[in-house]
Amino acid sequence: MLSLLLPLVLCVPLVLCKCSDPSPAFPVPSWIQQHKDGSLASTFQAIDAALQTIASDDQYSTTSFSIQLTSETETLWSHHHTALKHNATRPGTTHINDQSLYRIASITKVFTTLGLLYQHAAGNLSLDDPISDYIPELNSSSAIPWKDITLRLLASQLSGIPREGNWADLATNPFDPTSVGLPLVKKEDLNLPACFDPEIFESCNWTQILPYLSKKQPVFAPGQKSTYSNVAFELLGLVLARVTGLSYEDYMHESIFKPLKMESTTFTTPESDEHAVLPVDQFFWDVDEGIHNPTGGLYSSSADMSIFLRYILTHYNALATGVNWFMPTSWTGLRSFYGMPWEILRTDRILEHSNRPVTFVTKGGAVPSYFSRVTLMPEYGLGLTLLIGGESSILEKIQEAVTIPLVRAAEEAVWQDIDTTHSGFYTALNHSLNSSIAFAASPATGLEVKSFISNGTDIFATLLSTYARLSGIPEGDKWRAQLSPTLLFKDEGRREGEIWRMQIVHERNDDGAIWDDFCLVDVDPVSYAGLPLNEVVFWHGEQVVELSAFRVKMGRLGGGSGEGIDEGSGEGLFVQQSS
Ligand SMILES: *[C@@H]1O[C@H](CO)[C@@H](O)[C@H](O)[C@H]1NC(C)=O
Ligand SMILES: *[C@@H]1O[C@H](CO)[C@@H](O)[C@H](O)[C@H]1NC(C)=O
Ligand SMILES: *[C@@H]1O[C@H](CO)[C@@H](O)[C@H](O)[C@H]1NC(C)=O
Ligand SMILES: *[C@@H]1O[C@H](CO)[C@@H](O)[C@H](O)[C@H]1NC(C)=O
Ligand SMILES: *[C@@H]1O[C@H](CO)[C@@H](O)[C@H](O)[C@H]1NC(C)=O
Ligand SMILES: *[C@@H]1O[C@H](CO)[C@@H](O)[C@H](O)[C@H]1NC(C)=O
Ligand SMILES: *[C@@H]1O[C@H](CO)[C@@H](O)[C@H](O)[C@H]1NC(C)=O
Repeated sequence: MLSLLLPLVLCVPLVLCKCSDPSPAFPVPSWIQQHKDGSLASTFQAIDAALQTIASDDQYSTTSFSIQLTSETETLWSHHHTALKHNATRPGTTHINDQSLYRIASITKVFTTLGLLYQHAAGNLSLDDPISDYIPELNSSSAIPWKDITLRLLASQLSGIPREGNWADLATNPFDPTSVGLPLVKKEDLNLPACFDPEIFESCNWTQILPYLSKKQPVFAPGQKSTYSNVAFELLGLVLARVTGLSYEDYMHESIFKPLKMESTTFTTPESDEHAVLPVDQFFWDVDEGIHNPTGGLYSSSADMSIFLRYILTHYNALATGVNWFMPTSWTGLRSFYGMPWEILRTDRILEHSNRPVTFVTKGGAVPSYFSRVTLMPEYGLGLTLLIGGESSILEKIQEAVTIPLVRAAEEAVWQDIDTTHSGFYTALNHSLNSSIAFAASPATGLEVKSFISNGTDIFATLLSTYARLSGIPEGDKWRAQLSPTLLFKDEGRREGEIWRMQIVHERNDDGAIWDDFCLVDVDPVSYAGLPLNEVVFWHGEQVVELSAFRVKMGRLGGGSGEGIDEGSGEGLFVQQSS
């Protein structure tokens, strides 16, 4: 056995030791009524109570917010809070609901990037084209190497260009610079575009800004290191306009808002204040962001954002060839990353029973008085919208109060479901064969193979323990055989024949070696007669599991926490025995 597997195994990295638990650990759940009424209901109640406590703090008496949680198919839960105090002359809505409108600020970048992906998929542009192909005004007379800056780098916050075009210059603030230790600068030395008017947000147009941008210095070389840039997305909006022949705003409307029926999402200030969330001292509601629209101009509601999140959750890996939209493009910290233009957190500290990493794909937005964040949890098939009008400091409190209990409750519900649908003892449909396999589901160890007999041979004693040793797991160390879903089906049309792969998981014994953190992924190590040795296929309709390389189908005798398992009887509870 050893000599047989050795040449194969030496070709694959020996990496299984002490790395994180396999992820994903379960197929994307379809959150159904049963969860809303049952397993998740008490969590939603507890979160509602926590949110009321947060909102009751005096410092938030002028703060309103809307929170909505959606699955891939439907809204699961909402929480809306109306500020206690309103502006008497211009109150806006005093009854916040899922139609209430907020400025969503930089979440607009997600829409700009989606437009870019559409145009890339249509062949109208390539993500890897330099920006100067579309905006020739950005040419070699500039200190910024525009011809080396691709659309992909711009959307990934990796372009190295400055943060702003004509925003955020302290010299435009009405204050005495010497009072904070800055020198006075003469008007003619301001280095600002002539069009600049601090009173008018949209004061400059592209004709004026492009030559000004050309005079700016880069922050980093292209692709070197990430740093947040608004002007990157303003330029991408200009690219979309030039490529499609529409205005940026019209293109967003035609390609995204209209087809998805996001009827309250606009770049123009809503005509009436009926749904407008207007915090007491807001001054930004009526601001037309002009050329800044592609980086932060949108108004939207939590109901519209849920529509959008459902679309993303079901399409993120099918928008353009070669693009999985949720993947990171650069790191911003140990566990946080920029995507395109996502802001991603991957944490191993959230689950109570394992260190399996959980990924939050987010985008935040902020303009004066309006703060927002969308959070996608792709492993759970969940999308959360959080829109705030008022105090910014409430955002992180709400984010923590909602996502942590939510993910923990979702995790519990998932394993209860998997226990019902997958766990149990399965025996060969052909009764003359002594073949069987047993699965158990738990939050700590996922969907685990507890025993596996094939034609009278204990596979744990042969193939699996040999492979565990060859993978570098020392004799005597604990390991388990865990299934990880591929999210593919043998029959994609009926979504039947759910394909999983069995993996050897080295159970941690933390000796603190630095390189223990170094993990590579290889779930397809060996095949047998052309079929993957570790492929496990669940045919739920027939209650049958298929071990592909072993050429055997086994029927389920009992399910759920070992209940109904009776190894001796051979009488299937669910299975039409075939021989
Ligand atoms: C570069 O573009 C600027 C406008 O942004 C233009 O004034 C200048 O003539 C161009 N230079 C070259 C070499 O094309
Ligand atoms: C930009 O503004 C200037 C000054 O108002 C004007 O002359 C020019 O036509 C504008 N360009 C565009 C493209 O709107
Ligand atoms: C590609 O660009 C052309 C015009 O430049 C436009 O008519 C067409 O609609 C674009 N394709 C898509 C899918 O947007
Ligand atoms: C209330 O709204 C009015 C009109 O928009 C504005 O002028 C005023 O400054 C606001 N009050 C406060 C306290 O911000
Ligand atoms: C069942 O297994 C026995 C023993 O391996 C074999 O002889 C027989 O052909 C199998 N029957 C079917 C229907 O596959
Ligand atoms: C089961 O094993 C026996 C030898 O012990 C072998 O003759 C037979 O072909 C095997 N059957 C299957 C279906 O693998
Ligand atoms: C099936 O095989 C296993 C493992 O070799 C053995 O322990 C068990 O007794 C066998 N069962 C039957 C009914 O032969």
